[in-house]
Amino acid sequence: MAPRSPLINVMVRAAHKAARGLKRDFGEIEHLQVSKKGPADFVSTADLQADRILREELTKGRPEFGILSEEGSLREPDAEGRRWIVDPLDGTTNFLHGLPHFAISIGLEQRGAIVAAVVYDPIKDELFHAERGGGAFLNDRRLRVSARSRLEESLLATGMPFKGKEGSPLFLSELTEVIDKVAGVRRWGVASLDLAYVAAGRYDAYWERGLASWDIAAGILLVREAGGYISAIDGRDVILDGGSILASNSELHSDMVRLLKVKAPASKAD
Ligand code: IPD
Ligand code: CA
Ligand code: CA
Repeated sequence: MAPRSPLINVMVRAAHKAARGLKRDFGEIEHLQVSKKGPADFVSTADLQADRILREELTKGRPEFGILSEEGSLREPDAEGRRWIVDPLDGTTNFLHGLPHFAISIGLEQRGAIVAAVVYDPIKDELFHAERGGGAFLNDRRLRVSARSRLEESLLATGMPFKGKEGSPLFLSELTEVIDKVAGVRRWGVASLDLAYVAAGRYDAYWERGLASWDIAAGILLVREAGGYISAIDGRDVILDGGSILASNSELHSDMVRLLKVKAPASKAD
């Protein structure tokens, strides 16, 4: 078992502390006060509390680092260009519906590159972590992406647009192209865990459009450090904010890029 670095220890401590509140609130989900943030997009008191705890703990551990969180915590990067990119609760819809599948995601960006990652699933007590050049781990077991090279044996994950988001026709075209060529497609609604599961070899590939940097920052490093490939869906470099993402083992990557080269059907207005 590789010893965890002081930096990873700071991140793990913060994730564990924030997770305690999330688990407690998940157990009493019906009592949570919930307010609407936008279409199909809720923010809960649990979410904001997790954000506060993460900000406090990460700042205690590394006071100089900047921070960017989905729930509002914001501080400019330090002189070395370092900042945390945080999603205090990834999988909000699952959480609010009592589905035990959600995560805390913490990535550390340095001058545009992700250099450290923690994704923690409090319900399953699964802690994924990675540092650039040091490999990816699940609860201290070294991770490796899958070795499957045949699409027909592969299990894929995706995320789909939901109410208020654009891109449904394109997504449906992609799904139609993919669905009868693979062993299965899953949609669990937690981008950080979708990426962590590619790193762990549970999924062979994952694609999604329109994600934010806090959804994918940590997961990107997990996949790379587990020997996987990350790109945009068209095979180009991934853009952290609002772009698309394709994560897979190295065997399947070019097949996936080829498969996903589809266009949305022309709309009636065209
Ligand atoms: C969402 C999840 C989901 C993805 C959505 C994200 P949230 O994050 O990562 O998998 O499909 O686009 O917004 O809102 O639960 O933090
Ligand atoms: Ca998210
Ligand atoms: Ca979130």
